[in-house]
Amino acid sequence: MRVVVTGAAGFIGSHVVDALCSAGHEVLAVDAPGRSLAPEVAWRTWAAVAARPGVTVLEADLAVADLAPLTRADTVAHLAGRPSVRGSWGAGRAAAERDNVLATHRLLAECARRPARRRPKVVVASSSSVYGSAGDRPNREGDPLHPASPYAVSKVEVERLAVDAARNGLRTVLLRYFSVYGPRQRPDMAFHRFTEAALDGRPLPVFGDGRRSRSFTHVADVVTATLRAVAEELPSGIAVNVGHPEPVGVHEAIGLLAGVLGVRPEIRREAPVAGDAARTWADPARAHRLLGWTPAVDLAEGLADQIAWHRALRRPETSRPETSRPDAREREVRVG
Ligand SMILES: NC(=O)c1ccc[n+]([C@@H]2O[C@H](COP(=O)([O-])OP(=O)(O)OC[C@H]3O[C@@H](n4cnc5c(N)ncnc54)[C@H](O)[C@@H]3O)[C@@H](O)[C@H]2O)c1
Repeated sequence: MRVVVTGAAGFIGSHVVDALCSAGHEVLAVDAPGRSLAPEVAWRTWAAVAARPGVTVLEADLAVADLAPLTRADTVAHLAGRPSVRGSWGAGRAAAERDNVLATHRLLAECARRPARRRPKVVVASSSSVYGSAGDRPNREGDPLHPASPYAVSKVEVERLAVDAARNGLRTVLLRYFSVYGPRQRPDMAFHRFTEAALDGRPLPVFGDGRRSRSFTHVADVVTATLRAVAEELPSGIAVNVGHPEPVGVHEAIGLLAGVLGVRPEIRREAPVAGDAARTWADPARAHRLLGWTPAVDLAEGLADQIAWHRALRRPETSRPETSRPDAREREVRVG
């Protein structure tokens, strides 16, 4: 299968590229690392992706580039975008609109221009944040949407575009990811910040009172669901929750993290983030029914995996994982 992965220099996208390559698929990896929330990290990951045998890379800003080369595929896994609820306030709002809404609109329109039989299926990354805060039961895909930040609003708009495209004959699938964690997690995300702080001997920076809870979902499980959505025939325009069914409180998660690290955590409270859901809670029944997907990694095991990655980053360069090596920005970029 020929698969295009956008956001390939990102946290989730780079893992999806790895898994597709390992499964023997032909991959065109697309990104504009300069558009990342953490460009220096994205450039390093991009270099590692480009060095992977079997991967062709295309540096392209989806908001402005010619996207025709992205449409010559069986499936496009569209993971590029501007994540983060916190980062979407103020100046971040325009970036969320540009890199989420405009980029998705351009990509879907370009795919729809292909002759009907050659149109790729497009698997689009959405987010649990479209639901707002969960109530006293897990969120199902048919629940009303209550976006509470510019980021969440942009993802609702992304979903609307994908559903419209499906009505007009493009096959689309929306994956609503829930708080993804694991190796290569973005530096702005909670477990990354907590782990780095603990390893430095600093207090852990916690936004608000720490009473929030999340359906934390390990990236390996997210990759499994994404690859199945890439390969399976699914009802077009459908949304699918990709989230662990058991939410865990932030304090409980910190306890697990501290246990793995062998530290007594000191906490530094920071102002709560506007639009941050008090609770996210996934009902993954649809993912189970359509994709045969059930998350396999529990939080204690998944945190140990992420912490091992942070520790490896601190080892001398030669023994570090690939994605932390100095970037090879000058590396030849092959255009597919
Ligand atoms: N990480 C999570 O917990 C989570 C949860 C829900 C949804 N999501 C969604 O999943 C997707 C991937 O998230 P992530 O955590 O890997 O984020 P990430 O920031 O690590 O990856 C996103 C990538 O998109 C690229 N990008 C941004 N704008 C671009 C543009 N205009 N053209 C080309 N590339 C562009 C960035 O350079 C970056 O490498 C995003 O759409 C995000 O909103 C993530």
